[in-house]
Amino acid sequence: MMSSRLVHTATFDVRWFRQRVLRWYDTHKRDLPWRTNYDPYRVWLAEIMLQQTRVAAVVEYYAKFLRRFPTVQALAAARLSSVLAAWSGLGYYRRARALHQAAKKIVKDGAFPSTADQLRSLPGIGRYTAAAVASIAFGEPIAVVDGNVERVLQRVTGKNLSNQERWESAHSLLSRKRPGDFNQAMMELGATICLPRQPQCLLCPVSKHCTTRGELSRAKVEVRHKREICYGLNLRDDAVWLVYRPKSSSLMPGMWELPEIREPNGNHQTALTLKHSITITDYTVRVARGPVSDSVQGRWVRRSRLAALPLTGLARKILQAIQVIQ
Ligand code: ADE
Repeated sequence: MMSSRLVHTATFDVRWFRQRVLRWYDTHKRDLPWRTNYDPYRVWLAEIMLQQTRVAAVVEYYAKFLRRFPTVQALAAARLSSVLAAWSGLGYYRRARALHQAAKKIVKDGAFPSTADQLRSLPGIGRYTAAAVASIAFGEPIAVVDGNVERVLQRVTGKNLSNQERWESAHSLLSRKRPGDFNQAMMELGATICLPRQPQCLLCPVSKHCTTRGELSRAKVEVRHKREICYGLNLRDDAVWLVYRPKSSSLMPGMWELPEIREPNGNHQTALTLKHSITITDYTVRVARGPVSDSVQGRWVRRSRLAALPLTGLARKILQAIQVIQ
């Protein structure tokens, strides 16, 4: 029986584990648009979008982005503002900038890098993304560890593994024959069965050899903050007043949004209130119709130009809510 030092006892059968995980994946994997074809550009794009963003949100943007930029050449040839506009709403815009820079480099070099080592030299690609793309698109036998895999490993081993031990443990479990599927299967197991708060152990293909059966290391309760924020809405028949976030801004540079106001006064009329969450902060957003201060640097933007403009996710949400854009 083959066992792994980091996956505990001599009775732990690595082959059995791989087989169970892969069989479960073959019958239960979610039907996701980046699993229909393993073209490296498509895999890479999905993995970048999936960093810090939920699968459901990525599904919404992925096909649209691919229609707009169907190949790495099309992406490399695009203007940054068009890339940011297509990314608008996904958040963490640094990813879109790095994606665009990396596309230019790939096209200039004349080939898509095909090993994890080569992939890591591209902007926006770290250890996780390099391993995900190399294994899924090119079949390189290299393991991935993301938050989901980490939880599966902690639970299966019952150990508080260090970062290095997690990568070693994932590597020792990895199926050498189907590394891309195995990596996706481990992530899928963490995302759909081995859940932080309510693990579905009865449905888990490897619960027989799980040390903790989900009992240990349940997620810590997340601390969340609440904040209120107000925006001014100045609308004409065919245009809306927007402000530009300077290129030097640390957050969302180069993007357009409604002007922030201190709070609505007698000249304002509340247009809508909505909820918006960014990382660990839940915002109550009030949007008030009326004049905005002259000191705010801004410009009238025609409605017809809004679709091509890099709007912040919140600005897009507000303009959709009041049906200025679709
Ligand atoms: N999370 C990030 N990439 C993933 C993938 N390819 N499959 C499942 N979950 C993921």
